[in-house]
Amino acid sequence: MSLKKTTELFYSSIRYPGPNTTMSKQWSERISEYIKKSDNFYFLDAGCGSCRHLAGILDDYKNSYGVGIDLSNPSLKAGENFLNSFNFQGRFELHKKSFSQKLKFKKKFDVIFAIGSIMTSKDYEKSFRNLCANLKKGGLLCGMIYSERGHQRRYEIKEMLHLLTKDPKVMMDLYPHFKKKLMDHTINELIQKIKNYYYQAKLKLKGKSTYYGYAAQENITKPVFFLDTFCAPIDYGLNTKDFQRICNTNNLQVLKLAGYEKYKAKNIDNSLAKILDHMKLWDQIRFNELFDQYPKSLSFILKKK
Ligand SMILES: C[S@@+](CC[C@H](N)C(=O)[O-])C[C@H]1O[C@@H](n2cnc3c(N)ncnc32)[C@H](O)[C@@H]1O
Repeated sequence: MSLKKTTELFYSSIRYPGPNTTMSKQWSERISEYIKKSDNFYFLDAGCGSCRHLAGILDDYKNSYGVGIDLSNPSLKAGENFLNSFNFQGRFELHKKSFSQKLKFKKKFDVIFAIGSIMTSKDYEKSFRNLCANLKKGGLLCGMIYSERGHQRRYEIKEMLHLLTKDPKVMMDLYPHFKKKLMDHTINELIQKIKNYYYQAKLKLKGKSTYYGYAAQENITKPVFFLDTFCAPIDYGLNTKDFQRICNTNNLQVLKLAGYEKYKAKNIDNSLAKILDHMKLWDQIRFNELFDQYPKSLSFILKKK
């Protein structure tokens, strides 16, 4: 395989997460705080890939209707076969459309998902604007975007791999040189890893593995994840200041932002919390983000005011 120069060519070749995808209930679970299982709602999955999240939502919310859009025709084709295999015919439609351009649908959506898709296209401000223009007042915009801090080391490794070779297969062979060894992890990181394994094993035993997202970092050697992680032509991270701008421009209110929206984020002791108490919401969010020693991606649930 050669390096693909555009997002469309790249995702058409890998069909993320590929034809062997499994249904994901990760986002179905996350929205359950705001939407009842019996609710009748119309949703968009923007950058749906091969439709693992779309399938999870349709399965759990029997009165929902989903629209999936993606740049990649082969992903949409794989997605259509995947959704039909669960007999979801008549409850979804898929279109080759780009959220980098203005979008028009039959009506505005109650919920829009953009799960790991916006940062693979240029100009996130435009993408958020185009999506929000199709969201109802009171509707939810949900998704995930990489965080600048959380992905810093990955970007460094990506740069090194691209200095060494232009062949993705060779990159895959070289990757073990850059992988963190056991001793490179802090004790807290190791504890977190053990907790994650335990959580995954528990879900597996309960037959609920679909509620766990792909742990891409753990499965990094699997070709699709490896390529997505190190060979995507466009791939950047945002921070909470970017979200502040996005929310202000598009009239959005934060319901969830990687847990940073909580006034007392994890591990903040009382003396700091007392100062935080007097800070504005977006300053608290930024503080919590910078205080986090192990930042991950930014999962968000935003509400249109
Ligand atoms: C990392 S994959 C995520 C796929 C899916 N959301 C998931 O989590 O399984 C990113 C997807 O976004 C799509 N994408 C990127 N830019 C896009 C755009 N401007 N319009 C529509 N889809 C886009 C890609 O084709 C790709 O399928």
